[in-house]
Amino acid sequence: MAFRIGFGFDVHRLEAHQELKLGGVSIPHSKGAVGHSDADTLIHAICDALLGAAGQRDIGFHFPDTDPAWKGKDSAHFLLKVNEILHSLAYSVVNIDATVVLQKPKISAYIPDICRNLASLLNLDETSISVKAKTSEGIGYVGREEGVQAYAVALLEKR
Ligand code: CDP
Ligand code: ZN
Repeated sequence: MAFRIGFGFDVHRLEAHQELKLGGVSIPHSKGAVGHSDADTLIHAICDALLGAAGQRDIGFHFPDTDPAWKGKDSAHFLLKVNEILHSLAYSVVNIDATVVLQKPKISAYIPDICRNLASLLNLDETSISVKAKTSEGIGYVGREEGVQAYAVALLEKR
């Protein structure tokens, strides 16, 4: 049995009057993430972890931010495409573990929804997805509420 591990990281700027989407779930807040797509930092980190585990470059390679096709795009689309790439290479996802680093707001109440949504997008059992949250203790750009980070690891199994 062949197992492969992958790691992903992402960061987006936070600005007023933008939507804050994490794992496809919209989180009410005075600031949201900005980027070329819908700036879903958690989905982007998970896509990179999955692509990395499969040795298939990164999200920007497959969905370049210079391409107008991806402007404002729902990041769920990227995750579905990444899952198709994995399946075409006979990989299945064993589990994903992720951490969102965000000073405000607290997102723990949304984590069950986020895990359910990610599991449904990837056609996995919810027990295969773990999402955690941390503040940055007020330090650095995350602490100043200028940005949101996400880190993810993923384990794949070759069928
Ligand atoms: O206590 P510790 O320094 O390890 O963590 P923290 O950054 O102070 O966060 C405490 C807890 O708040 C975390 O374990 C999460 O459960 C929760 N949290 C959250 O729900 N949303 C965030 N944006 C940050 C943290
Ligand atoms: Zn991103």
